[in-house]
Amino acid sequence: MGELTRLREFLNELIPSEDQFQRLYQNFCAQIRKGLGAKTNKDADTKCYLTYVQDFPHGNETGKYLALDLGGSRFRVLLVTLKGDRDAELVAKIYDLTEKELLGTGTQLFDYIAKCLHEFVCEQKVEGEHMALGFTFSFPCVQTGLSRATLVRWTKGFNCSDTVGEDVGVMLKSAITRRSGLKIDMVAILNDTTGTQMSCAHRNPACNIGLIVGTGCNACYTEKVENCERLDSKYKDRPKIIINVEWGAFGEKGGLDHLLTDYDKIVDKNSLNAGTQIYEKMVAGMYMGELVRLILLRAVNENLIFAQCKLRKQITDILTKKPNCIETKVLSDIANDKGDDWPLVKDVFKDIFHLHDADPDDCMKFKYICDVVAKRAGNMLGVTLGALVNKVGESFSIIGVDGTVYRCHPNFDGYMRETLDRFVEKDRKYDIMLSEDGSGRGAALVAAVVHREYIERKSLNTRLHT
Ligand code: GLC
Repeated sequence: MGELTRLREFLNELIPSEDQFQRLYQNFCAQIRKGLGAKTNKDADTKCYLTYVQDFPHGNETGKYLALDLGGSRFRVLLVTLKGDRDAELVAKIYDLTEKELLGTGTQLFDYIAKCLHEFVCEQKVEGEHMALGFTFSFPCVQTGLSRATLVRWTKGFNCSDTVGEDVGVMLKSAITRRSGLKIDMVAILNDTTGTQMSCAHRNPACNIGLIVGTGCNACYTEKVENCERLDSKYKDRPKIIINVEWGAFGEKGGLDHLLTDYDKIVDKNSLNAGTQIYEKMVAGMYMGELVRLILLRAVNENLIFAQCKLRKQITDILTKKPNCIETKVLSDIANDKGDDWPLVKDVFKDIFHLHDADPDDCMKFKYICDVVAKRAGNMLGVTLGALVNKVGESFSIIGVDGTVYRCHPNFDGYMRETLDRFVEKDRKYDIMLSEDGSGRGAALVAAVVHREYIERKSLNTRLHT
């Protein structure tokens, strides 16, 4: 048997069959049903959190708003000027997060956020203005209103103490109050998926699904209020509400067992949050590079790649001793390598393994491994997105997307569409829209919509009482 054929066979478990995709679809739909049900929610792994976002942008919103975006490897503060014609102007500043913030106490984290916010408003010369702020906080939260959100658990690389079970809105407000001089009113907390959906809906109202494929992975969608058993009747005067699926947690109750490989199990076991976020660990940026490292290591040991390479031992050592030595960015970078002398793969080999004269066959095999991991992720996401398009039930749905994996990997969109095309019901159509400046702009929009709604209710009250 040829070497490439052997490698293909070796990777076969990472290439789901049609039957496995079907089961993924069925299991996922069952979890969504459970998540929405009042009695079944406790047994669901996709908790389908109510976001309380029920008003959608009209496109004519105007004014200046602040937004915070916390959830990935970096934290952003934004000043968003909505211009009233489906357009917005943005000034953003990125602040790095160190281990001190990611793994310290919640108070340390929120004090740091308030400090950055303070610096930012001073730099933008808006410190004297009374401004509304939308807070994109991209972790699972139980919300009881737009500005109240209790953290359920940390995901991705975050693990601050004294925060789970706390209202992060209150924590942010207290941190803002501790810094005197800030006249900022935090009016809404939202997930990055919701921000992305709102941001895309601002441009095109047909957007009813939001997706993030970045450090983490998650989706939200517009649901009819009558399908939300957990929603208090006082919120049922409006027809729809955005549901934050938190699908990264899918698989915690076995729904993905038929797809899990040893590599997935090791990634989970070595993570900060073992046993949780199983789907996320198969498809998100924080983990795909690590999957490639584990696959590569086993492939080297089984003489399927680098078999003749003189640095074979050194490569094995690096792969064994350096977890996370392959970043997910590598998957995107080398996907652009057309295979003509393999310049991009060779750069990666130089960087990671100090290998300067790579064999073209090894380059081709490495690219193949990376493609298999990315394709599995994109294809799986297409299946669960298909389920959401069908659940939304409109004849046309736009999926608003953001996140580094989707943005940077040249084939990811195509991988998602492959399975979306197969799973979206025949009488429905969909399209995918890349969100521009996604969740930050979305947070400002939610703040604006809350503000609009407040004004409308106030004027209605005045009319009723005069
Ligand atoms: C994680 C978070 C989720 C977020 C996603 C993308 O899955 O739990 O809230 O939307 O990452 O950032």
